[in-house]
Amino acid sequence: MAHDEAEAAKEAKRLRKTIATDDYRYHVKAEPTTSDREYDRNYKRLVDIETQFPALITPDSPTQRVGGQPLKVFAQITHRVPMLSLDNTYSEEEVTDFYRRMERLLPDKKIPVVIEPKVDGVAVSLLYEKGELRYAATRGDGTVGDDITRNIRTIRAVPQRLKGDVPDVFEVRGEAYLDKSGFAKLNAERKNAGLPEFANPRNAAAGSLKQLDPAIAAQRPLGVVFYGTGLIEGIALEKHSQLFALLKKLGLPCSERWWPADSIDEILRAIHELDALRHDFPYQTDGAVIKVDAFVQREILGFTAKSPRWAIAFKYEAERVETRLLDILIQVGRTGILTPVAALEPVTVGGSRVARATLHNEEEIERKDVRIGDMVFVEKAGEVIPAVVGVRTDLRNGTEKKFRMPKKCPECGSLVVKEEDQVAVRCVNSQCPAQVRRRIEHFASRGAMDIEGLGEAMVAQLVAHKLLRDIGDVYALNAAALADLERMGEKSIANLLEAIEGSKARPLWRLIFGLGILHVGVSASRALADHFPDLDAMMKSSVEELQRIPDVGEVVGQSIHDFFREPHNLELIERLRRAGLRFEAEKKPEGLEAPGFKNTTWVITGTLSQLRDEIADIIRARGGKVSASVSKKTTCVLAGEEAGSKLEKAKQLGVRILNESEFRKLLA
Ligand code: IVH
Repeated sequence: MAHDEAEAAKEAKRLRKTIATDDYRYHVKAEPTTSDREYDRNYKRLVDIETQFPALITPDSPTQRVGGQPLKVFAQITHRVPMLSLDNTYSEEEVTDFYRRMERLLPDKKIPVVIEPKVDGVAVSLLYEKGELRYAATRGDGTVGDDITRNIRTIRAVPQRLKGDVPDVFEVRGEAYLDKSGFAKLNAERKNAGLPEFANPRNAAAGSLKQLDPAIAAQRPLGVVFYGTGLIEGIALEKHSQLFALLKKLGLPCSERWWPADSIDEILRAIHELDALRHDFPYQTDGAVIKVDAFVQREILGFTAKSPRWAIAFKYEAERVETRLLDILIQVGRTGILTPVAALEPVTVGGSRVARATLHNEEEIERKDVRIGDMVFVEKAGEVIPAVVGVRTDLRNGTEKKFRMPKKCPECGSLVVKEEDQVAVRCVNSQCPAQVRRRIEHFASRGAMDIEGLGEAMVAQLVAHKLLRDIGDVYALNAAALADLERMGEKSIANLLEAIEGSKARPLWRLIFGLGILHVGVSASRALADHFPDLDAMMKSSVEELQRIPDVGEVVGQSIHDFFREPHNLELIERLRRAGLRFEAEKKPEGLEAPGFKNTTWVITGTLSQLRDEIADIIRARGGKVSASVSKKTTCVLAGEEAGSKLEKAKQLGVRILNESEFRKLLA
């Protein structure tokens, strides 16, 4: 780079502005105008300049969205205007009471209000000075919160610098969330990767913002909806309804939908309309917020000790049932995480029969004071996983037992540890029979090496008989050893051995997935097998190379790199090699490589006339890659009938979209 520093400074400034504009068009307006390639080129150029002249790095540079060392602890920020919460109401009568009370306090006046979605996320407050993001904080206790500036900067919908005529000071408040599809994907990945799942999108968002390492926060698909202000100077607002337009002008995302109302009937109508729409929002909502529009009226109405009299939250009902908590069981996962699970008297909730529910972790159990024998409330959290959400303490008779997380692993007796900053408790013994079983079950599962007959019960028997200690032992099983097992006739033995033999030829991605590397799910495994000629090349690759692969990224890349530097993993790989497993990637059939597919990344979504896996194979055979999620790295989305969020995302990002007949044409 033949630059002098002054010239570089100018160029960096220009690039930052261009990138910020692109981020705004893409994330706030959902109308991108720059191609991904150009965006990436600008970004890379900026990184190069900042690498050459580190003194030019500014805190608002887009490169600093993810940067720096993990923190040890969060600094504290005192809110100059306290962050209050709202009173919750659960019935239309209470909403009516709320409005009537205001009418009594403001007699003979119309009281216009605004109804907007109550976003189920984490409250955040961002302070902009002269248009520049100075800091971001959580609510904390309402007076003092955590400084989460670095994590907030990773959210691309959050501008580092406001647009247009900026107020001197603009403190903006809203709710950070993890969108519904991002939540489902994150949990699926965590499950595949042997990590504890989040109970609902709100916990996932909170967990993401509380990461001391901004690189982790950066990988979570976080968004923000802004709905209020804290300290503002240099601009005057008279009404809340003016805020929506102002936020838009400043480049800050806000709710798409809000309703004005000035009577109880109108308020209730808006609440119902919102209820009918909210399930289609990308973020989870759990209610409606009703706020007085005019700030002068707000001032007259004032506050109670902890919440304003001029606003109230109406919470929609979640389906919730009562049943008895029979016991709390401990599950030990593949990576040693101990998860308490509620054993319930079976009950129907949200249309399905439920006998188990998640209790998340010890802290949650303590916080809710759940005891064995209690009558508990069960809800489908985040509209998916059943969870114990509360306790009928009024029905206790004194025989209920408090739960204590065991100090030792219930499976192997090893001490369990709680890692710093984590709520999860882990059994540290990698040879723990539960972990060994889970790893082998995972390896043999349908989604991985697909070994029929090697399910949970069989694995348990083989581990108990010391015939299996790790996945390498699977290929050392023989008829003589198996003959000693209960209920294993000659036929079953032959079938199992045949299934094991057959698995040796499985495609490389299945082997990669089956290894159970932390954070490596199916899509990353497929992407890895697409990228490397064989397992050896993958084992030797640098973290940087790994991170460049779609569906891999930083944390996953590091995890893979670490896995292949563990001596006992290397020894295991050698045993698998000697057993004759396939280490080479699938050869793309000669002559099929098609120019339209080479170096392209596809996402397949919706209902198509052929299985998605089969279509994926067609694309791979032609030299394309297939990824599970739409991102800037996606070249093309093949959208079938009833395609949902992935299609939406593709539209937002301006990714090319093909329907099935267009795709078939391309093939022909
Ligand atoms: S206004 C003075 N508007 O719900 C109160 N809050 O239970 C200012 N929330 O603390 C809050 N969506 O964390 C407001 N549209 C919305 C909201 C919202 C979600 C959260 C927020 C608040 C809590 C109140």
